[in-house]
Amino acid sequence: MSFAETQHGSEIPRERMLVELNVNGADYELVVEPRRTLVDALRHDLRLTGTHVGCEHGVCGACTVLIDGEPVRACLMFAAQAECREIRTVESLAPAEGGLSDLQQAFADNHGLQCGFCTPGFLMLGEGLLASEPDPDRERIREVVASNYCRCTGYQTIVDSIAACAAGRRGCGRAES
Ligand code: FES
Ligand code: FES
Repeated sequence: MSFAETQHGSEIPRERMLVELNVNGADYELVVEPRRTLVDALRHDLRLTGTHVGCEHGVCGACTVLIDGEPVRACLMFAAQAECREIRTVESLAPAEGGLSDLQQAFADNHGLQCGFCTPGFLMLGEGLLASEPDPDRERIREVVASNYCRCTGYQTIVDSIAACAAGRRGCGRAES
């Protein structure tokens, strides 16, 4: 057991626990405090810093990852709650041989990002959406991306990007208007 020092100099026990995570197809064992959030475990313990942290209380969606294929806000989960689940972060998108995934390329081609801070969250939202709904119309894409904050793009180009990727995956090679 380790100890944390309070502001008054006394020590309190800081209990730790073993957490086993499957992230992007690899298994990890972490020893963390029970209160360790999933996003902190990803970023600080596993050094997967592609997942961003904005508000830290479930509002902005910058921390969105996929858990068993579903978009989840990683700042609202404890790492321990993600045991026995398949976690995917933005690092899983790009092909192992390098380059960009089709969704990442669609964001680049359609100006779906400016500062890029929100982009990992939107990419994982889009990846989760297209895995479960390969043919979403623009209204459906708007509904899904409305859950995350972007302060730069005005959202239209994010919708364009996801629509373009969906069109590409369907083989028609262009976004619906
Ligand atoms: Fe998780 Fe904002 S950092 S929702
Ligand atoms: Fe800057 Fe979305 S691109 S916040």
